[in-house]
Amino acid sequence: MTQGQQTRRSRAQFRVGEEQESTSIDDRLFGSFVEHLGRGIYSGIYEPGHPTADEQGFRGDVMNLVKELGVTTIRYPGGNFVSGYRWEDGVGPRESRPRRLDLAWHSSENNEFGLHEMSDWLDKLGGNELMEAVNLGTRGMQEALDLLEYCNVPSGTELSERRRANGHDRPFDIRMWCLGNEMDGDWQIGHKSAQEYADLANRTAAAMRMLDPGLDLVVCGSSSHTMPTFGLWERTVLERCFENVNFLSCHAYYAPKDGDMASFLASGVDMDSFITDVTAIIAASRARLGSDHQVFISFDEWNVWYQDEEASRSPEGIGNWPLGAPLLEDVYSVADAVVVGDLLITLLRHADVVHAASLAQLVNVIAPIMTEPGGPAWRQTIFYPFALTARYARGARVLKSLQSGDTYETSRYGQVPMTDSVAVRGADGSLSIFAVNRSLERSVDFRIALPEQDRHRKATVSTLHEDDPSARNTLEHQERVVMHARQDFKMEENVINLQLPPISWTLIHLA
Ligand code: AHR
Repeated sequence: MTQGQQTRRSRAQFRVGEEQESTSIDDRLFGSFVEHLGRGIYSGIYEPGHPTADEQGFRGDVMNLVKELGVTTIRYPGGNFVSGYRWEDGVGPRESRPRRLDLAWHSSENNEFGLHEMSDWLDKLGGNELMEAVNLGTRGMQEALDLLEYCNVPSGTELSERRRANGHDRPFDIRMWCLGNEMDGDWQIGHKSAQEYADLANRTAAAMRMLDPGLDLVVCGSSSHTMPTFGLWERTVLERCFENVNFLSCHAYYAPKDGDMASFLASGVDMDSFITDVTAIIAASRARLGSDHQVFISFDEWNVWYQDEEASRSPEGIGNWPLGAPLLEDVYSVADAVVVGDLLITLLRHADVVHAASLAQLVNVIAPIMTEPGGPAWRQTIFYPFALTARYARGARVLKSLQSGDTYETSRYGQVPMTDSVAVRGADGSLSIFAVNRSLERSVDFRIALPEQDRHRKATVSTLHEDDPSARNTLEHQERVVMHARQDFKMEENVINLQLPPISWTLIHLA
């Protein structure tokens, strides 16, 4: 922390709220996303022959890291991939599964890994929930119904018996379903206008409910806050689908534009206003329709993603459709991890409306976990804020707290708060505060006022910060960036004083 002492200082205060004004946090807020894309599955979670692989080819080292990461729900199988996917290709005897083109990522898919493998992998992980997406790009209502029958009907019909014959006697009993993916985007296979999509999604949702009324259905919102159709898309879709869906999705990816790190570090400001805007649109639709029904937000793709970099360029050429080639393998810096920590703070603050979220993605593809084929698996920088937030905020309640402090100027969002924080009360009574300092050069003197009940607790503090904010973990230096345990804080009575170094994410835990 020596750098912090030399830099200019700012101030921020945080008053932790009382339990009476708190919001529960849905477990689904700590979801992630596994798409058939690049090495997300092949040589990511699945690599037969790897020294740690089990009899099904699931990498044990990756599974251990996924457990440590603490993710809950897994969204699958896409993403853009799902909009051209035939789910039947991925079930049944492996030797008869076809090799297909994946137009979304200009790749091949040999379907060695499919629905049953994902379900088995989740069982081995600890029974994590599968959030399944249906293809509303090249396909429609009938195929969605077929997949639902295959998954959820216990027995006695053609498709449920096919599932049983394929080795899964019990139904998969999948509760959460995405009605397509990013259908507002012109890059999407089968991209639709808001009205076209709203009609298809509503008909599909209504039919799926006839088969299984208790489903949690997610209708596509906007692919980003900056889509030209943002707002109108949500209004059109909700107007048509409101009673038949439980969630409206939001997606957001952030990266520095033209090297503007000050704005990038304030990405949480954009996510915050995105959620606030969508919440208002949901409320307006509800009021206009005179509905008693509740629709929540599923923020089911979010992360830092360097979309314009070489690593995200799909292959090209009519004869060039590689299988499991590296794609979207961003190597994250400390600054990226600080943004991810801030996005988590933002999601938690909106836990009253954001009832599900998926960090996109999980392994190798814009991911907290990286692997080397035949070699090790390691934690990217973004692993730490996610794992620690999931560990302490899962099953907890968000406390309505007050924050104030210095601001800084950004070209994208104007004046923004230099720090951002949230406090959660764990089911065991412990208190955790997550705090970020977005400033490029200023250290912040951070003062926390605790509720009376916490004054005798023991505090532990750890910070993600490096003097070089571009530091990363790589195959060669897998632990170049780690969390730093802190002793340099003061706790007197019910006040904690500590310094937040520039570009840092900090966890304060009181047990
Ligand atoms: O996560 C990568 C891609 O980002 C997904 O396939 C798509 O839904 C989004 O545009």
